[in-house]
Amino acid sequence: MKVLNYGSLNVDNVYSVHHIVRGGETILSSKVEQFCGGKGLNQSIALAKAGVPVCHAGLVGEDGGMLLDACRESGVDITHVKTLPVKGGHTIIQVDEKGQNCIILYGGTNQMQTKEYIDQVLEDFGEGDYLILQNEVNLLDYIIDRAYDRGMKIVLNPSPFDEKLDACDLTKIYLFMLNEIEGEQFTGSSDKDEILDRLAAKFPNARFVLTLGSDGAVYYDGKEKVFQDIFKVKAVDTTAAGDTFTGFFMASIIGGASVKEALRTAAKASSIAVSRPGATPSIPTMDEVRESLKD
Ligand code: RIB
Repeated sequence: MKVLNYGSLNVDNVYSVHHIVRGGETILSSKVEQFCGGKGLNQSIALAKAGVPVCHAGLVGEDGGMLLDACRESGVDITHVKTLPVKGGHTIIQVDEKGQNCIILYGGTNQMQTKEYIDQVLEDFGEGDYLILQNEVNLLDYIIDRAYDRGMKIVLNPSPFDEKLDACDLTKIYLFMLNEIEGEQFTGSSDKDEILDRLAAKFPNARFVLTLGSDGAVYYDGKEKVFQDIFKVKAVDTTAAGDTFTGFFMASIIGGASVKEALRTAAKASSIAVSRPGATPSIPTMDEVRESLKD
């Protein structure tokens, strides 16, 4: 069984600010830093740091050298990642004094996937292999259809939630990993039980992991619900906390852990990530997570 993560790679330009800037306001930032990020890349690095061999597919621009280096350093297989001679995906992120963020995303090469490239990547994968997706690349509908035809188990983190998802046949998704806001956008409800019931009615063949911010996370497969609290920490930067959760949950499940154990490991990993600055540099290793779970 192989694991493919087909997704975005971004250079994150992170500005430390007192508060998130309001419309019409100009504020001074106290620090600017550049980190590797992108929901796809963050999740691949989380999987690799959690000990799962993962192949990443996606496109970087001429400014993407640092993203490829980050993959190599963490052991992510980048055989399929291509570089195009244009500007790559990048972000402007504000992080306030409470560690909360807001993100402006420029798609760049992440929005330049072609059907030929997707077919070429998927040729190496088949029945029973996992495909992990987010919504930061174009042709997501085509990737889902072709991967489903090949018998892959598709895990979708529908983030950022936008109209591109309407074009996707989401009945082909094996597991949704989403937060409560995305849950509300899918179902029109802000109540966690109602969200899960409506999702299960809409996608009866899927299972769901719904993260609930400070209320933890819940897994539901239409029959059983499994809850997990958060591990409280002082937040420094919440960027990539959700991606770390996804990577460690999937790595634990792939490694044979129960849903309960996988949720606990993922919650601990993301609590470590929020206590550190940056996207990929904040992601812990599985050894760190296990050590911290002993406390
Ligand atoms: O989920 C966090 C990521 O979202 C950041 O690294 C940024 O690149 C955006 O894609």
